[in-house]
Amino acid sequence: VHADVHTADLVVFGGTGDLSMRKLLPALYHSDRDGRLAPETRVIALSRGGLTDADFRGKVDAEVRDSVPVDDPAMWQRFLGRLHHVSVDVGGGIHGGTDEGTGWKTLAGLLAGHEDRDRIFYLASPPRTFGPFCREAHEAGLVTPRSRVVLEKPLGNDLASARRINDEVGAIFDERQIFRIDHYLGKETVQNLLVLRFANAFLEPVWNSLWIDHVQITAAETVGTPGRRGYYDHAGALRDMVQNHLLQLLTLTAMEPPARNDREAIRDEKVKVLRALRLIAGGEVDRFTVRGQYTGAGDLPGYLDEPGSTPPTELSSRVETFTAIRAEIRNWRWAGVPFYLRTGKRMPYRRSEIVVQFKDVPHAIFPGGTPNRLVLRLQPDEGIRLHIMAKEPGAGEVALKPVPMSLSFGETFTARVPEAYERLLGDVLAGNPTLFMRRDEVEAAWRWIDPILDAWKAAAGLPEPYPAGTTGPAGAHELLGRSGRAWHEEEA
Ligand code: BG6
Repeated sequence: VHADVHTADLVVFGGTGDLSMRKLLPALYHSDRDGRLAPETRVIALSRGGLTDADFRGKVDAEVRDSVPVDDPAMWQRFLGRLHHVSVDVGGGIHGGTDEGTGWKTLAGLLAGHEDRDRIFYLASPPRTFGPFCREAHEAGLVTPRSRVVLEKPLGNDLASARRINDEVGAIFDERQIFRIDHYLGKETVQNLLVLRFANAFLEPVWNSLWIDHVQITAAETVGTPGRRGYYDHAGALRDMVQNHLLQLLTLTAMEPPARNDREAIRDEKVKVLRALRLIAGGEVDRFTVRGQYTGAGDLPGYLDEPGSTPPTELSSRVETFTAIRAEIRNWRWAGVPFYLRTGKRMPYRRSEIVVQFKDVPHAIFPGGTPNRLVLRLQPDEGIRLHIMAKEPGAGEVALKPVPMSLSFGETFTARVPEAYERLLGDVLAGNPTLFMRRDEVEAAWRWIDPILDAWKAAAGLPEPYPAGTTGPAGAHELLGRSGRAWHEEEA
């Protein structure tokens, strides 16, 4: 075990849910295996499920074991031994000791005597539960000075609800104890973006409107939304992906160099970018945003026919499963440089990347050149590619050809790339909030999203259909096409 790890009690509300089983528990097991959990550290799952510790351990053994490398069965058993389960019902209140059945007392009993440990409340539950959970945990006397709270996204569904949640949580926890997760910030390549920009001298001088024509940020997924209608009908791609993940990528791409690599310096610069985003409102929304919804194609169902959910409601046909937006950052560095954002379900490939498209050379002496392009691939095949012009070998006329200078992280670094959640859970345990969203950051993001949501809500039309398995509706291509640009589609 590493010398600097503290003993912690990690209390996961929603601890038997999908996120916990698919991401959190595997990440914790990896941390354990790498010696980054103290011997006494416990994971206490809370749910309404009425499980015993043994039931929960059995469930994790059955559902998680096959997704992680278990090379040493004793180590796996040790990990299972850390797990506990308490049935807790949030929303009932504590009511001065008449809390029989809500489970808070049981939890208090389990935590009693361990006030010296780091105590982490991880809320992997819908945002409406964040406020009540914090209040009830406080009323049950569970919030110690060494406590932290982790909030999963989405943080609200608009600015007003985000503020309300931030107020409710902020009434119990100090801002420095609050960790708002955006798992994109835990991805290796996202952190590498900062290193690439601020630990190399050659990029920064050209990282501005003098040299850059535009930026594209894409998060394309092949998955649809089976079984998720209850959530997704109220979310849509704008809330689910843009408000958080894509805007985070935009801020890291566009921010000014921070003076230090520390939590406040970096987050200060990110907030400035969000505040400089030009609002898209009213009649402009049609010109600068596109919404789409996938329809059935071949074996793939359309959004309205996705299995495993309740039947579609009135909302369902208005929900965007794809969106593309032309954003602008109104500051000295980026004036006039469009940032195109795009994300969608049921696209032909799974790929997240940032594409920086440079301008053409100021004066061309060879015919047939194309402008440079820097592609940062977040997933899959994490890496960086710079498309440069080279001369094709041969006598005779000079012929140009764009060729990629390519860095693959997987080939260059042989160490295992940790999953985003592993990194972020490690940061929570270490108390480092740099890669988490500060309150003002989340609210600045909603401030930009809200007018788009309002205009979409007021619009008479429905999202543009696109067949499942394609790159989105025609409107997405027109968004760039009308200024002679196109989405970067090679190297699928
Ligand atoms: C989540 C969204 O935040 O991110 C999902 O709720 C989406 O809809 C997921 O599928 C994508 O994450 P990743 O890491 O697979 O790109």
